[in-house]
Amino acid sequence: MKTLLVTQADLRKLVHEVGIDALMDQVIEAVEGAFRAFDTSRTELRQRDGFTLRNARTGVLEWMPVMRQGETITIKVVGYNPLNPRRYGVPTIIATNSVYDCETGHLMAVVDGVLATALRTGAASAIASRHLADPDSRVVGLVGCGAQAVTQLHALSRVFSIQRVLAFDVDPVAQRSFPKRVGFLGLDVRAVPLETVEAEADILCTVTSVGVGEGPVLEDGRLRPWLHVNAVGSDLPGKVELPRSLLERSLVCPDFLPQALVEGECQQLRPEQVGPSIIEVVQNPERHRDWRKRSTVFDSTGFSLEDEAVTRVLTELARRHGLGMDVELECLAGDAMDPYDLLLPGQGVQAGEEAPGDSRHKVRVA
Ligand SMILES: NC(=O)c1ccc[n+]([C@@H]2O[C@H](COP(=O)([O-])OP(=O)(O)OC[C@H]3O[C@@H](n4cnc5c(N)ncnc54)[C@H](O)[C@@H]3O)[C@@H](O)[C@H]2O)c1
Repeated sequence: MKTLLVTQADLRKLVHEVGIDALMDQVIEAVEGAFRAFDTSRTELRQRDGFTLRNARTGVLEWMPVMRQGETITIKVVGYNPLNPRRYGVPTIIATNSVYDCETGHLMAVVDGVLATALRTGAASAIASRHLADPDSRVVGLVGCGAQAVTQLHALSRVFSIQRVLAFDVDPVAQRSFPKRVGFLGLDVRAVPLETVEAEADILCTVTSVGVGEGPVLEDGRLRPWLHVNAVGSDLPGKVELPRSLLERSLVCPDFLPQALVEGECQQLRPEQVGPSIIEVVQNPERHRDWRKRSTVFDSTGFSLEDEAVTRVLTELARRHGLGMDVELECLAGDAMDPYDLLLPGQGVQAGEEAPGDSRHKVRVA
């Protein structure tokens, strides 16, 4: 029983071999497939939980679990620290995704969660936009030009024919560098004032690290009547990006309702004002089709079903391309009832002896 490690170096090779567009397409397909097939009798979802980190800017370290009955449990452990890029030159979101065997509890795989999170968060917005936005949407607006903004735009570009991208960030350095970071898409990307994003976007992604109690990041008033918003940055109690008036007149679709009511845009609404979840929308696309010409919001808090889908894509691709390393991380060799058997020479059951207990206990042959 080994554990597959998929590291940064493996993912670099994987992207080189598969191509970043093909990888994003596979993640979009996998996440949408997970939404379509979701069934509470087979998949147990849990709300995330975690610690609040009282750093210079409030951060969190959270765990996000999901179980496929009788198969695997996937748990992402994710840190959110918005001062990371400027202070330490590392991403705001740092994560690792782990997969456990339901039968034994064995750790089957550990995969980087930084790229995985960015891919699946972009994919989720593309899926929501495909079902809720006007299919003729051509102008994409971004408020917040950090790491997640890159994959929001990339994923949307796989689903819509984008003519113009309007990007705003309160940090001029992030705003100015954004067109270069998404240059690989070959799109017309302009750094513009917030008012221009608000007035001209057909699809708008809010992807900010706005502080608790500092939102909203958008003003209502000049938004297009058919605007679809992917609200990505609201994921803590008191951290919201959208004006309540926009939410109240829109079809608001949370990713995972119990979580969205506590830490998403839905915390600004009463439960009866909240629309169908993205899972219900994907499972019944015709029922909500009329909303595509009206105001809609995807309340994306990010949930473990998405992490499971992207982890599966990355581990399967790694295996197919001969990437990743199988390591013996857990002490599993030797006598199953003697934890020292493996570690102390001469300890434990000797050759030819019966191990205690039943026949499943291994007998070490010296
Ligand atoms: N929904 C999900 O599944 C999901 C997944 C990952 C991250 N997130 C959230 O998305 C947000 C962005 O994450 P990231 O990794 O891109 O962070 P990041 O630090 O790389 O980028 C955030 C950007 O937002 C900008 N910003 C802050 N306040 C702003 C405001 N009022 N108006 C415009 N721009 C503003 C910052 O200057 C920064 O450039 C975070 O809040 C994070 O928690 C959500």
